[in-house]
Amino acid sequence: MADFEIPTAKPATQAGPLTARRGFLKSSLAMGGGLLILPSGFRAGAQAPSNKLNIALIGAYGRGKAHYDAISSENVVALCDVNEDHIAKAAERFPKATRHVDWRQCLEQKDLDAVVCCTTDHTHAFIATWAMNRGLHVYCEKPLANTVEEARMVRATYLKNKAKLATQVGTQRHAYENFNRVRELIRDGAVGTLQEVHAWGNRQIRRPGYPKAQGEPPKNLHYDLWIGPSPMHPYNPEYFSGEPGANCLQWNMYWDFGTGQIGDMGSHTMDIAWNAIDADLPTTAEGKGEAFNPEVTPVELETCFDLPANGWRPAIKVHWWQGGPMPESPLPYVDLNKVGHGAMFKGDKGALVSHFESRVLIPLGAEGDMTYYKPRPESERIPPLGGFQQEWINACKTHLKTSCDFDYAGKLNEMMVLGLVAYRVGTKLEYDGATGKVTNSPEGDALLRREYRAGWTLSG
Ligand SMILES: NC(=O)c1ccc[n+]([C@@H]2O[C@H](COP(=O)([O-])OP(=O)(O)OC[C@H]3O[C@@H](n4cnc5c(N)ncnc54)[C@H](O)[C@@H]3O)[C@@H](O)[C@H]2O)c1
Repeated sequence: MADFEIPTAKPATQAGPLTARRGFLKSSLAMGGGLLILPSGFRAGAQAPSNKLNIALIGAYGRGKAHYDAISSENVVALCDVNEDHIAKAAERFPKATRHVDWRQCLEQKDLDAVVCCTTDHTHAFIATWAMNRGLHVYCEKPLANTVEEARMVRATYLKNKAKLATQVGTQRHAYENFNRVRELIRDGAVGTLQEVHAWGNRQIRRPGYPKAQGEPPKNLHYDLWIGPSPMHPYNPEYFSGEPGANCLQWNMYWDFGTGQIGDMGSHTMDIAWNAIDADLPTTAEGKGEAFNPEVTPVELETCFDLPANGWRPAIKVHWWQGGPMPESPLPYVDLNKVGHGAMFKGDKGALVSHFESRVLIPLGAEGDMTYYKPRPESERIPPLGGFQQEWINACKTHLKTSCDFDYAGKLNEMMVLGLVAYRVGTKLEYDGATGKVTNSPEGDALLRREYRAGWTLSG
C-alpha cells in the first residue's frame, strides 16, 4: 500500500468543491469575456493549456484503456483501481497521477474537475452520485445503474446540478452517423405514424451460479473494495479471467454485480431506439423469460413497456428482447436474426430496421408508397456528433451539453431495469415515473432497490 497515496484532505462538502476546484469554469468563462463566444459555442481559451481538465480515471485498466487517448489531451491527475497491477499499467501512460485504490478517497483529491468511471456496474451509480455531490463532471461507462432506485438517484443528482455539470454515459456508438439518420427518418415520418419499437440482442452467456470459493485474492487485488457495496461473495479467479476491456462478461450476469444483457449490450442497442423516440418513463412494464435463477440474471428475456405520447407521436409500446426471443419480422423474407443487435420501428406505413451503423427502410401495405414522405434537405440534417468522449470534454469546458447525459441515459436505464423487476414479479406492473413507484405490486415496488453492505451509501 505504500505506493498509494491517501490524500489527507478533509472530505469535501456539497458546496465546497464547486468553488474550490481551481475556479476552472469561472476562468474559462472569464476568458470568454462575453464578447468572444465563437460560432461553435466554444468560449475563447477553452482549449488553452491552462484550461485543461483535471481528470480522475476510476477503473484505470480494462475498459479504462479505451479512454486513455481521449483524456490524454487533459491532465490525468488521479488513477484509481482496486487492482494495484492495473494502476501500475495505467501509470505507464499517466505517470504524474496520484494513485488510489478506494474511489471514495480518490474523490476527495482536492484538484479534481472531472471523473471518468470504468469500474464494475454495481459501483457506477455510487461513483457517479458521489462525484456529482462534489461538483465534478462525470463520464460513466454504461450501464449507469443496476436498479431503478440507483438510476433515479443518479438522474436526480444530475438534474440538481445540471447548470454546473456535464455528464455522459459511455454509449459511444451513439456517435455513429446512423443514429442521426434513423432519428431523422422516424421524426420525418418515413414509417408513417410510429406505433411500436423493438430492440434486441442475441448474446448468450450462461452460468450456473456464483463461482465457488477458490484460492485467495492476489496481493495486488483489494477484493473487499471490488465487492464494494454488494453482499460478500467468496473470491474466485474466474471473476478476473477475461480479456482487458471484456472482463465485464465474467461478472455482469450475476445479480449482485450486474444486470446481464440489459445493462451490457442493451444499453447500446436500446439507445438506437431511445435516440429517435423522445421517450419519457414508461407507465407499465411486463417481462417474461426463462425460469428465475436467484444468482444469475436471465439469458432469455422479453420485456415490454407502455410509453406515453409526446408532441409528435402517439403512445407507443417499446420492447426489449434478448438471448433468443425475437420480434416478428415485418416481412417473412427479412430475417431479423441476421441483425445480432438491432432495433425496429414499426409505423402505420412501414418499418425501419437498424443495426448500429446501417439501416433498411421497409414500406408496407398499400399505403406504403413513400409519397407521404419527403426527405429533409441537407441543410436540416442533424450534424455529426464528432468524438463521443470529446463531446463530454468540450461540454465540461463550455456549454455542459452532451448527447447521452444522465437525464437521457438515466431514463433509458430506469426503463430497462424496471423490465427485470417485471420479469421477476411475473405480472404487468403499473409504474408512476413521477414518484418512482410500482403502484399495483408491493413485491415489484420492493424490487426497485437492493440492499447494500454496511458502510456503503448510494449518495455520500
Ligand atoms: N462502452 C463500451 O463499449 C464498453 C465496453 C466494455 C466495457 N464497458 C463497461 O466498462 C466497465 C468495465 O468493464 P471491464 O470489462 O473493463 O471490467 P473490469 O472487470 O476489467 O474492470 C475495469 C477496471 O476497473 C477496476 N475496478 C473494478 N472495480 C473497481 C472499483 N470498485 N474501484 C476501482 N477500480 C475498480 C478493475 O480492476 C479494472 O482495472 C463495465 O461497466 C462495462 O459495462 C463498456
